[in-house]
Amino acid sequence: MTRHLITSAIPYINGIKHLGNLIGSQLPADLFARYQRARGNEVLFLCATDEHGTPAELAAAKAGKPVDEYCAEMHAVQARIAEGFRLSFDHFGRSSSPQNHALTQHFAGRLQEAGLIKEVSEKQVYSNTDGRFLPDRYIEGTCPNCAYDKARGDQCENCTKQLDPTDLVEPRSAISGSTDLEVRETKHLFLRQSELKDDLNAWIDSKKDWPILTTSIAKKWLHDGDGLRDRGITRDLHWGIPVKNGTKDWPGMEGKVFYVWFDAPIEYIACAGEWAAANGLSDADWESWWRTDKGAHDVQYTQFMGKDNVPFHTLSFPATILGSGEPWKMVDHLKSFNYLNYDGGQFSTSQGRGIFMDQALELLPPDYWRWWLLSHAPESSDSEFTWENFQQSVNKDLADVLGNFVSRVTKFCRSKFDETVPAGGAYGDVENALIADLQKRLGQYQEHMDAIEVRKAAAELRAIWTAGNEYLQTVAPWSTFKEDPEQAAAQIRLALNLVAFYATLSAPFIPDASATLLETMNATDAAWPTDVAASLGQLPVGHAFTVPEVSFAKISDEQREDWQERFAGQRA
Ligand code: 2FM
Ligand code: ZN
Repeated sequence: MTRHLITSAIPYINGIKHLGNLIGSQLPADLFARYQRARGNEVLFLCATDEHGTPAELAAAKAGKPVDEYCAEMHAVQARIAEGFRLSFDHFGRSSSPQNHALTQHFAGRLQEAGLIKEVSEKQVYSNTDGRFLPDRYIEGTCPNCAYDKARGDQCENCTKQLDPTDLVEPRSAISGSTDLEVRETKHLFLRQSELKDDLNAWIDSKKDWPILTTSIAKKWLHDGDGLRDRGITRDLHWGIPVKNGTKDWPGMEGKVFYVWFDAPIEYIACAGEWAAANGLSDADWESWWRTDKGAHDVQYTQFMGKDNVPFHTLSFPATILGSGEPWKMVDHLKSFNYLNYDGGQFSTSQGRGIFMDQALELLPPDYWRWWLLSHAPESSDSEFTWENFQQSVNKDLADVLGNFVSRVTKFCRSKFDETVPAGGAYGDVENALIADLQKRLGQYQEHMDAIEVRKAAAELRAIWTAGNEYLQTVAPWSTFKEDPEQAAAQIRLALNLVAFYATLSAPFIPDASATLLETMNATDAAWPTDVAASLGQLPVGHAFTVPEVSFAKISDEQREDWQERFAGQRA
């Protein structure tokens, strides 16, 4: 038995995520967690909301709520939607938790002791009206290059020129519009990441099985990018984790907080502490997942994220951990994803473009989305959601192949033999050939799942479903029955067993449908198959079942057109 620690990138708190976010980390992480549990391995699957930073403060202000209240509410909303998609987190935590406060301050203290922190004085824009320092992108003005009047302090969107806030003509606060701005001197902590370059390099080099997408991004930032520039880890904000050196105050840092990208990945660890606290477990329990000196030496740690997150997970977070000099578990396998686009453009939270998680669940049950998203996961390149493709894939794979198989077999049995597995006949050459084929395919399916090759695993699962349909077409029990009811009984016995076999194998992708099938087949204790022949005998003669009420409803052309139109504009 292996112990699998699995984390998904933690979604920002400010708003409901779209389907592109879902397939970029949470959903494939859930697929892997469910698969590993089904294989009998021990799993700790963690995710949380990423609650700090200016965007959270602004979203709260827009909602007219204190930021802590806003975050608590949005956490509950995101947790409910995650449940709606059947994301099987062992804990869905919060980066604002007391555990994360303590741990983030602890890491900062360790880094300070190791001589890896320096204090730097900077000049930053302060808005008197807003009573706060403004991050570069919250300063707007006229571009000195192209005269665009909504250029941001970090870049002009119109001519793409990189800017400094002081370059802007007539700068104003993007928050209040106020022009009452001044430049003030402020002091911040910087993590001297450059000191850790050799350690990081050696660590990345030791990761021989990382996907090329991951290693190339890490190496690019390590060697020729800005990735290892010493990095500011504090901010002049109200909302966040107060800057402390362990449990002690940090002179000169009063009123400042840690930068959101410093505390967010530490939440992966803190979340395990939250999980332990929520379940009445001890520190030793969560530490056995995270401390290599306290039991985590044999843990396999897999992280899931979109490609934009890779530099933070291959360089910044490892720098925090290595710099601490403490034996924390580091990531073994890092699975990153490209982007999912929406109908000829990008999904966009700021523009409300695409389908958001809450809306998706209002239209259709989670299995439909899970199946489409996972079978089209943007692994080797970006992929695209179109309504046509979605309709086709749901109707064909789920309704025609899997759903139809289940309903034909169970209904035929009920009409000719009753709702019990019928006796009579024996498996012959065709059945043995099918079993051999499925044994091979089961091996391939597991290989893809072990390697987290999501699309390939989905394709193999689909092929496994198709093999059942082809068998049914070939042996045609409804015809056999007329001449040889005994043989038809054997064929149906095999097919009924296939229903349970499919339900077990499909559970990581479509958990609800699988659970329904296992319940109606009276096989909720079915184990993950190893020997297909044995597994296809697990529903013995006389085993009672009921015909499943619903399988998959097809998406009609009218529905598709209606949704296409409804989602063409922006979310209100
Ligand atoms: O990109 C994002 O959505 C970030 N909130 C991810 C943070 S992942 C980790 F560092 F915690
Ligand atoms: Zn410009």
